[in-house]
Amino acid sequence: MSHGEEWFNEMASTWDAKPEIVANTKNVHAQIIKHLEERGQSLSSMDVMEVGSGTGLLSTLLAKDSKSLLAVDTSEKMLERLMDKVKESNLGNVSTLNEPLVSVDQLGGRTFDLIVMCLTLHHVDDIQGLTKTISAALNKGGQFLVFDFEKFAGSKSFHQMTDEQLKAAGVYHDQGFDASDFEALFGQANLKCIHAQSHFRMTMPDNMPKPGEQSEGHGHSHAHAHAHAHGHGHSHRQGMGEGKNEYPIIFAAGLKE
Ligand SMILES: C[S@@+](CC[C@H](N)C(=O)[O-])C[C@H]1O[C@@H](n2cnc3c(N)ncnc32)[C@H](O)[C@@H]1O
Repeated sequence: MSHGEEWFNEMASTWDAKPEIVANTKNVHAQIIKHLEERGQSLSSMDVMEVGSGTGLLSTLLAKDSKSLLAVDTSEKMLERLMDKVKESNLGNVSTLNEPLVSVDQLGGRTFDLIVMCLTLHHVDDIQGLTKTISAALNKGGQFLVFDFEKFAGSKSFHQMTDEQLKAAGVYHDQGFDASDFEALFGQANLKCIHAQSHFRMTMPDNMPKPGEQSEGHGHSHAHAHAHAHGHGHSHRQGMGEGKNEYPIIFAAGLKE
């Protein structure tokens, strides 16, 4: 398996119990609504796709107010959790695609007004290829909105994982992204970068579960976590803010003109 599928399948049942994820989803949703309002737009007329939807925390919020929503995720278990929410909320406008998005041919002719990614771009190896596919799937005037952790001197400590664990979790860009990364990424996919700035932070837990470490079932890793560091030594948080656990989340928007 690639794309960290095994890891995300394992994480699916406890994903929604992560307070940092729930808080981040709320911030991301509010930022999307604010961004659209500032542009005089509303979700109600929009066909939306989320790439890397996970359990659907953001997708279901967006689906409630939009015309349709396609949730794409490589993890089958994550999409099962998403469908539980879709059934509970009686959402009739949500469909899923359980594949990595590599070509518009997978979309059966569907095009979108809004495509979003939240904490997923850093899990994608070929971000240029994906952004080109996303650009091709956007309607004229449509937007690609990305939220991910921002690159800075200490951003590599976001995951607190060894190289081996990063590989198992499918993390390809462990430093995150900055505004110049998005300018370049959008530029080569014919998208105009209309926004690239951080507006809020994500507070990461001290004991993030990691691949290869047994979970206690509630998202806490065992106290012997450092024993798995494989000679990399103890790593220490280098986030921003008082607790050093805070990481800025960059929000970038690319417009299809
Ligand atoms: C860190 S999680 C974020 C989930 C969700 N967006 C959230 O914020 O709760 C990353 C998600 O992206 C999925 N993923 C990883 N690589 C992917 C790819 N190439 N295409 C689609 N989904 C992918 C994983 O299965 C996982 O559900």
